[in-house]
Parts: sequence; C-alpha cells; structure tokens
Amino acid sequence: NWTMEEFVGKEIARIRALVGEKGQVIGAVSGGVDSTVAAKLMKEAIGDRFHAIMVDNGVMRLNEAKIVKETLTAGLGINLTVVDASERFLGKLKGVTDDPEKKRKIIGNTFIEIFQEKAKEIAEAAHGSEREGEIEWLLQGTLYPDVIESISFKGPSATIKTHHNVGGLLEGMHLKLIEPLRELFKDEVRALGTTMGIPEYLVWRHPFPGPGLAIRILGEVTPEQVRIAQEADHIFIEEIKAAGLYRDISQAYAALLPVKAVGVMGDKRVHAQVIALRAVQTTDFMTAECYPFDFKFLNRVSTRIVNEVHGVCRVLYEVTSKPPGTIEME
Ligand code: XMP
Repeated sequence: NWTMEEFVGKEIARIRALVGEKGQVIGAVSGGVDSTVAAKLMKEAIGDRFHAIMVDNGVMRLNEAKIVKETLTAGLGINLTVVDASERFLGKLKGVTDDPEKKRKIIGNTFIEIFQEKAKEIAEAAHGSEREGEIEWLLQGTLYPDVIESISFKGPSATIKTHHNVGGLLEGMHLKLIEPLRELFKDEVRALGTTMGIPEYLVWRHPFPGPGLAIRILGEVTPEQVRIAQEADHIFIEEIKAAGLYRDISQAYAALLPVKAVGVMGDKRVHAQVIALRAVQTTDFMTAECYPFDFKFLNRVSTRIVNEVHGVCRVLYEVTSKPPGTIEME
C-alpha cells in the first residue's frame, strides 16, 4: 500500500542506485502512456543520461511525431532524438498487398534496425565525452500484465498476431533491461503519469499498435492511403472527444478499405474509397464489444469524413465483436 508520490521517490532512488553516477540508459518512446511515463521517470532520476529515441515510421496518426516531440521535449524536458524514417518504412511496405503479418515483420524489423543504428550513434557520442559513462541499459515500459503474460501465456493464440516489441534485441550492445513500470497495472501507470505532470491527452490515450496505420489500411500502404487514413481517423477521434466519449471507449480508429464505391457529391458521380469506423469497449483487449454510438453521432462523423477527406465517398460502422473479429482489421 503506497501513494504515487512514494512510488516515484522509491523508483527514482532505485534507478539511481542501479545506473550509478555515470551510467546511461537508452529507450524507445512511442507517444503512448507507458513509454512516456517510463521516460519521465528516467528523466527525473538521471536527467540527460537517459536518451529517448522516437522512430517516425510514416504510419503514425496525423501530426503525431510533431506533437509527441513537442510534449516530450518542451513539455517534459526529456532528452529525445526523433528519427524521421517514413520514407524507409514506406519504401519497404510498397507492393505488400495481402499479407498483414508481412507488414508487421517489415515494420518490426525496420524499427529494430533504425533503433539500433541510432542507439550506436548516441552511444559513440556519449563514449567520447568524459563526464559520462557508457550506455549499459535499455529502458522498457513493461507493465505487470505483460510480465504475467510472458510467463504464463503460451497458448496457440499467442501466435495469432506477432506483437512487436524492441526486446533485448540490440545486437552487440549487451544492454541490461530497466523496467520501472513492471509492478504496475495500466490504471496505476495513468495515476503515476498524472502525478508526474504528463498532459491529460497523453495519459488517457487509447493504445496504438506498433505497426500503426499499416494494419488499418487494408491492402497496399502508400503515401496517399496513409493521408486518407490519417485524415479520417483524426476527424473520428476529434468528434469522439467533442462528444465526451473518449474515455468511455477503449480504442477507436478509422480503417481504410481497399475498394471503391460509387457516390454522388454535388451534382457529380464519384468513384472513391470506403472508410470503416471501429470503436470498442474492453477491459483486457482479449475480448471486446462494439461501442453503441447513437445514430446522430455516426451520421455527423460520416458527413464530415466524406466532405473533408478527398478520396472517400462512403463511411461504414464496423460492429463485429471480438471474438470472432479482432480489434484491429488486420
Ligand atoms: P487485436 O487486433 O489482436 O488487438 O484484437 C488487441 C490489442 O493489441 C493491439 N495490437 C497490436 N499492438 N503490435 C502492437 O504493438 C501489433 O502488431 C498489434 N496488433 C494488435 C491492438 O491495437 C489492440 O489494442
């Protein structure tokens, strides 16, 4: 039984003792609550000896990289390097049309490659400076349920989707793991984030998958498809927030279907793409129910998307439960 302030104090002391006076830590941040809270704790414990890296993979939400960068650097004072690798990811995703697992592998592997390159650069620069020691540690935002899952979850469903994770995969760097959140549940991480002054929009953020919009753009991921998915998603989330429903929903997004339908806009017939909205309520993400929006809300979102997003002429609401559906569309 402890308060959040006590936890922060205790954890900072533990991190300092582990890392020592000169030790350095590296870690990936995504803009999600877990990695942000973990990064903020490191910043409080060891200042700029914690090096955060964010890889922009080109399939993040609209303006995400920019917003996260501002919040983490200007807002939270975290020593952050942003790598814009959009072109590299999109180049590799080109031509992958009907294999979601291939998208995941490409994004996971490219992420590790880039994180490793950047980590080596930072390590070399740090090694050259006298006041600092070598990078010996890798930060992971692992939560208690992940710890339990990796111990006990060995069933066949573990391989239904390969969830990507940095792991201790930094070849040749022999990093030790540091996991300040490993005893906490999600609601505790949120409380901790609030205590540490992390902005509310970040603390309460819906989870976002590592492969990002790539698994919400069915079929080929191209810059144009990314634009459409980002704009539609942005409108949907904006309306959910405006209606005061964001916290009631566990996860919501707009998916882009790889088909065209006919519509009429103004006095012209158009042949354009179809957006599927998805919003679910769940406690553990293993099962989920479709969110029961009222019809007026859906209508408003549909009107806005069709009017504002070039290339879309229809909007559907996806109502499948999990199971048999999954939360993501791929
Ligand atoms: P599904 O689609 O399996 O999603 O019902 C359950 C939860 O996991 C997230 N998800 C992923 N997260 N990499 C991730 O980091 C992935 O490849 C991935 N696939 C699904 C999904 O967003 C939901 O929260």
